[in-house]
Amino acid sequence: MIKFDFKSYVMPFINQEEYKTLYGMKQQVIEKFNSYDMIGWTKTINKEWIDDISKTAKEIKKNFDCMVVIGIGGSFLGSYSFEKMFQKYFDDKNFEVIYAGTTLSSKYLDELSSYLYRKNFCMNVISKSGTTMETTITYKVLKDILKRKYTGEEIKKRIIITTDKEKGALREEANEQQYKSFEIPDDIGGRYSFLTPAHLLPLALNYDIYRIVDGYYDGKRLIDVAYEYAVIRRLLFKEGRVVENFCVYEQNLSPFTEWLKQLFGETEGKNNVGIYPTSSVHTRDLHSLGQFVQEGNKILFETFIKIKNMDNFIDYNGQNLQDINNIVLDSVMKAHFKGNVPCLEIELSELDLETISSLIYFFLLAAAFSGILFEVNPFNQPGVEVYKEEVRKSLNK
Ligand code: PA5
Repeated sequence: MIKFDFKSYVMPFINQEEYKTLYGMKQQVIEKFNSYDMIGWTKTINKEWIDDISKTAKEIKKNFDCMVVIGIGGSFLGSYSFEKMFQKYFDDKNFEVIYAGTTLSSKYLDELSSYLYRKNFCMNVISKSGTTMETTITYKVLKDILKRKYTGEEIKKRIIITTDKEKGALREEANEQQYKSFEIPDDIGGRYSFLTPAHLLPLALNYDIYRIVDGYYDGKRLIDVAYEYAVIRRLLFKEGRVVENFCVYEQNLSPFTEWLKQLFGETEGKNNVGIYPTSSVHTRDLHSLGQFVQEGNKILFETFIKIKNMDNFIDYNGQNLQDINNIVLDSVMKAHFKGNVPCLEIELSELDLETISSLIYFFLLAAAFSGILFEVNPFNQPGVEVYKEEVRKSLNK
């Protein structure tokens, strides 16, 4: 179960008349949302895909020791953050999944190559466009490792490609070499692609993806509260709150805030508007950034993600440590509110597959609504191309 409190520590910061007016525009915003052709992520996923993904994952686990996921941005953050959230901090017994493709560090790729040379590994290359630089370079380097170790059929069964149905270099290669492949649908962009093979195959290695799918669609009932969240954010922005700090009290949720940063950053940050998403892991960052939040420049508002119950029990003077963690969270919200910082709260009853999948759907909807309230196209990211063009020019000199 997920509970939301967007009022207790927020209302004094926004104009109530404006809230009513913007909230009253819900139907209009939903109609605009429905008019976009990039909302494939709200539709029911093909059941055959899920079965195929599940079967493929079983084969991978039977035949290999680990899988390398090569992808970046929306082709990486969904599965990566989900995987990390549910991993054990120590002695994790999950099937090994290595996320590569997010760096051009020669040190990293060299050390990864040496590590993989000793392993019985396969790889899943994920790129909708099939042309992303980091993905292409990592894929080439790691394919060379496969070529040093194996030939013909043995290489073929170790490469799985997830890309566009028809276009791009990866699709061509998959067709030519007859590699196992999966599709990222045309009507789903990178950061909205959580419920596609791009993320479900890596996740199927360690998690029940049927439960993930159920939880995701269950998130549909959160449409009204997703709109309310978008409205509150928009009004806080109007009051000069141009930064949203996502605060988590479990270190394993830190990668999830990276997913949130991409989702909101790429969705809203256009035409010189948008809220800059950032994050803090508490209680650690209370001892560093906490001072700024409490008494510094009032550009921020905060969204706290609370987990009510944890399976783990640590007794501290007769009290469960998770309860103490949450008492600290409540106290920090009160303190920051007193310091003139608006605080929103999202409370998860527990950290389980269904709840997180519903939360993902909630955030996807909220981000899209928010983009519409900022009067930008929520589904493109033209700015990302600018640096790529500069890189191309410099490399071709
Ligand atoms: O949200 C997006 O569309 C981007 O972040 C992309 O996912 C990212 O650039 C990777 O693109 P591709 O999947 O084409 O390699």
